[in-house]
Amino acid sequence: TAVPVIAIDGPSASGKGTVTQRVAEALGWHYLDSGALYRLTALAARKAGVDWNNEAAVAHIAAHLPVHFAGGLTFLGDEAVDDQMRTEEMGIGASTVGALPAVREALLLRQRAFRQAPGLVADGRDMGSVVFPDATTKVFLTASAAVRAERRYKQLMEKGFSAKLQNILQDLEDRDARDAARSVAPLRQEADAKLLETSHLTIVQAVNQVLDWSGNKA
Ligand code: C5P
Repeated sequence: TAVPVIAIDGPSASGKGTVTQRVAEALGWHYLDSGALYRLTALAARKAGVDWNNEAAVAHIAAHLPVHFAGGLTFLGDEAVDDQMRTEEMGIGASTVGALPAVREALLLRQRAFRQAPGLVADGRDMGSVVFPDATTKVFLTASAAVRAERRYKQLMEKGFSAKLQNILQDLEDRDARDAARSVAPLRQEADAKLLETSHLTIVQAVNQVLDWSGNKA
């Protein structure tokens, strides 16, 4: 029988990353942060001096990313790149390269390789629609733009970055619009995905709701 997958899709800074990680921990399942692969592709292109709109060259980079995850860190070659890839600039880069069909194609099998027993919890924009269309549970996790901007702002402050709330809100709205408008794998709630609106939920409440929908107890 197929390895179960919980697909959690939604817009930037909705809290999907945290919820996905906690659900994976609660179940003892594997975790896929698919956005990291898009961010790493953008970062590797930048380091190689390749323009984010050069589809063939960026797809080549995506297909050959020397990435591995170890000890909670993300490595590109032998360099830990978490701080470099979590910037707003690389978020914009990720959504630029993510609009290129050849790049999405290059990352498809890599993402599917994370589906290993006993199960996978996957976070992204097209987990339930394209990468794991047969996922056992599909969730569209969102929050209002204002709440998401505040969450991102707090996250950046905690990491010691400086940022303006107004700029973050603008970046989020631009990125969401680009993610929703693209022709390949646009961001949207699939008909078979359950809507989880988290503006007024705690992380624990959101995690418990996903566990409940998946038929697994907390
Ligand atoms: O989730 P995160 O903010 O790290 O994703 C960065 C960008 O990568 C998103 O704005 C989106 O454009 C792109 N992405 C995507 N498909 C995914 C995950 C992320 O296109 N499955």
